[in-house]
Amino acid sequence: MKKALALLLSAALALSLVACGSNSSSTASSAASGTSSAATTTGDVANKDKPLVWFNRQPSNSSTGELDMNALNFNENTYYVGFDANQGAELQGTMIRDYIEANIDTIDRNGDGIIGYVLAIGDIGHNDSIARTRGVRRALGTAVEKDGVIDSTPVGTNADGSATAVQDGSLEINGKTYVIRELASQEMKNSAGATWDAATAGNAIGTWASSFGEEIDIVASNNDGMGMSMFNAWSKANEVPTFGYDANADAVAAIAEGYGGTISQHADVQAYLTLRVLRNALDGVDIDTGIGTADDAGNVLSDDVYYYNADERSYYALNVAVTSENYEDFMDSTKVYEPVSAQLDETAHPTKTVWLDIYNAADNFLSATYQPLLQNYDDLLNLKVEYIGGDGQTEANITNRLSNPSQYDAFAINMVKTDNAASYTALLSQ
Ligand code: BGC
Ligand code: CA
Repeated sequence: MKKALALLLSAALALSLVACGSNSSSTASSAASGTSSAATTTGDVANKDKPLVWFNRQPSNSSTGELDMNALNFNENTYYVGFDANQGAELQGTMIRDYIEANIDTIDRNGDGIIGYVLAIGDIGHNDSIARTRGVRRALGTAVEKDGVIDSTPVGTNADGSATAVQDGSLEINGKTYVIRELASQEMKNSAGATWDAATAGNAIGTWASSFGEEIDIVASNNDGMGMSMFNAWSKANEVPTFGYDANADAVAAIAEGYGGTISQHADVQAYLTLRVLRNALDGVDIDTGIGTADDAGNVLSDDVYYYNADERSYYALNVAVTSENYEDFMDSTKVYEPVSAQLDETAHPTKTVWLDIYNAADNFLSATYQPLLQNYDDLLNLKVEYIGGDGQTEANITNRLSNPSQYDAFAINMVKTDNAASYTALLSQ
């Protein structure tokens, strides 16, 4: 019995050594000659059958939010990795309401009994952005329902409270009733078409402040990129609490200087999952390996940081509020998550190549937080990742740089627009 096991083990070792050897030599020769690596261990897998992970932008209809199940079921090794947008949105709304309640004595800057806020919207066709707009409006009582769901339409300016996409809310604090008003909201899209645009948000707060600055008591933003731009342009100097989302390092640090708070979407867990599902598919092991079930190096996630929805083929990380009470624990936003920080053994998990794109190289969250995390995990998981940075405007800017999918073992895709999955899957199906 023992002997048979030993034999089996040594056979497995020999096999994986062979696999490893052929893989590294083909990588070297393809790099030298610049030709495709027909000799990689997965060289005979058709592109359409290679592992594929969508991340950060979930394939879905940008007007209805309906998931694009064709894209999510592209092949049996296709997944989405993101975070729970509704849970995070509720946390963001509650964080802002709690702040108002705790600071009611000082928050109403002009003393008119109205707590006014402005809201920076990232992308009106992005699930996460829509959820955050709804979360803030729900918590502050300014939400209006339309067709059974909260309207997430930007109002433009609403200093007089007459907009129809929102209503004036009210909060009773210490026996006194305050009106809550969304004074303005706008999609922060620049003239070239890039969404979640920080510079646009910085300009917008300037415009808003010059016409009704005294009425702005709170600044809310769908993300920290736009939030920090508004904070630096106006709210820091005017001591107006500003709330964002993502827990980017600069935003977390700014909490010490009056930034109101942010939400961590557990990018450290998402970046790991993004590459881990590819690693597992390439290893041909159970997809839960190193996720819900410890792997051979001891990596495992507990269910308080993520969950998997099998029907949606989607992994969702859970969010955490980051405020003046706990921000010191979140200062290093690019640190790998300790429970999944063990190096995989190169013999058992030989190096594979992955093509990965970031939809907009200028996106604060993706470039400052997510990509550095991916770069930490790729080494731990023995993945050689080619990172492509898009312009945030057109899919073609990215797909043009996927001219030879046969060179890669797996793909990780971050789309410009959530409707556009077919622009990528078409290339893999050729
Ligand atoms: C992030 C934003 C980012 C967007 C890009 C969101 O999940 O919170 O900061 O701009 O993804 O798709
Ligand atoms: Ca006021």
